[in-house]
Amino acid sequence: MATEYDLIIINGVVVSDTDIQEWDVAVKDEKIAKVVPRGGLKDAKAARTINAEGGYVMPGGVDAHVHLQEPPLFGNGSTADNYETGSRSAVCGGTTTMVTFAPQKKTEDTLLDTLAATHERAKDNCYIDYSFHIIVGNPSEKALSEFETLRSEGISSIKIYMTYEALQLHDGQILDILLEARKQGITTMIHAENGQVIDWMTTQLEKKKLFAPKYHGSSHPPIAEIEATYRAISLSEFMDTPILIVHVSTPAAAAHIKAAQDRGLPIYAETCPQYLFLTKLDLDQPGFEGAKCVCSPPPRESEADCDVIWEGLANGTFTILSSDHCPFRYDDSATGKKSSISAEHPLGHFKYIPNGCPGIETRLALTLSAGRLDLRKFVEVTSSNPAKLYGLYPLKGALVEGESDADINIWYPEGKMEEFDLTNEMLHHDVDYTPFEGRRMRQWPRWTVLRGRVVWDRDNGGLRGEKGYGRFVKRETSSLAKPLREGEWELPL
Ligand code: URP
Ligand code: ZN
Ligand code: ZN
Repeated sequence: MATEYDLIIINGVVVSDTDIQEWDVAVKDEKIAKVVPRGGLKDAKAARTINAEGGYVMPGGVDAHVHLQEPPLFGNGSTADNYETGSRSAVCGGTTTMVTFAPQKKTEDTLLDTLAATHERAKDNCYIDYSFHIIVGNPSEKALSEFETLRSEGISSIKIYMTYEALQLHDGQILDILLEARKQGITTMIHAENGQVIDWMTTQLEKKKLFAPKYHGSSHPPIAEIEATYRAISLSEFMDTPILIVHVSTPAAAAHIKAAQDRGLPIYAETCPQYLFLTKLDLDQPGFEGAKCVCSPPPRESEADCDVIWEGLANGTFTILSSDHCPFRYDDSATGKKSSISAEHPLGHFKYIPNGCPGIETRLALTLSAGRLDLRKFVEVTSSNPAKLYGLYPLKGALVEGESDADINIWYPEGKMEEFDLTNEMLHHDVDYTPFEGRRMRQWPRWTVLRGRVVWDRDNGGLRGEKGYGRFVKRETSSLAKPLREGEWELPL
């Protein structure tokens, strides 16, 4: 008799963004074929059965903010992970889909070349499914005219910067982009920090000869993020165009976002584990170690700030929780954190430390281990909402019969898995540190399934997936982020 299903998962508790139910799941031809009350598959035939007794069955993680094989924003080289090592690290932490960046430089006119080049880097190299956001560094007439082609190529989001000399746009350029994005149904992600405030503060610190890693934090004061966040919201409101403010770190910026959302504006926001777990103390470690936690925005003042960011996840201010995996090796004086050390600055200079931290593998387990989020909220911000926001739902981020890819994580509840302290040796990225070294872990995915295949089996060899199995996914326009008013934007007269 022919096998009815490729895989069934029985006796588990299925958690979605809205429900927690004792359901069994059947998978066929890479898709979720059936989700039925416990026992409903007892007569089913399957090539493989996973008994998830006592476990939680959740959609695979969707990480919508990942930098791989990207040039740094200053200095030389490239991020430490390429598409192979970054996606390998992702799958070993339960992330089954990632959206990485395809960066257009200020000196380039077209967006389509960067898209083609990024496809080349990713093709046949990924362990997990993937798509790209385009970073718009130069909104030339040509680049703006290409938004329509991006949409037909399955790219429905872009990222822009209000800081970093290499990418910073002025407000007029941002308006040009928002108008064209609105026309094409593209979601604009904004890195909201005021670059001029940061430059000014950097000059003041240099005059005082303050170069240590911890001054990276001082050079990015909260006000730079707060002002830029408010300005981004204002530009979005003016153009009636949805935006997503990335990697929010500051309570007062979160308050601006919440106030805008309460007014019904299509303002979405992201935060990252860095802002839940790290503080300025992590930037002030002995010697040069603080460089490991240099990212922008920086880890903030205190645990009280982290508490406010946790609260923003729980109350819906933050739509998604992404890793902002932007890995640079620590002990690498050519392209890593130590490239900021020179004859002139033998102890390093904060302004030359490549910005970014690794975290694609630890995002889910760290967050769940903290035990601070309702399980449905956890699924919502780490999987369902990123899929909805970026036009992947319900293909990804859900376990919907006949519609969703069979991308699944099985976790054990607290107390059923042996706790451990995180070390970098356990991880699968190509980076020589994790900023979360030594954290107590109470959770890690037991199994991860990607389109019906077991790709991670923690108790049986760990990584089971293969490079090249991951494929590019064309995305639709966002099902979450829409302008308030339909029709064309009209010049207010
Ligand atoms: O420090 C960070 N976040 N580096 C990555 C680049 C970015 O702005 O996301
Ligand atoms: Zn950014
Ligand atoms: Zn980033």
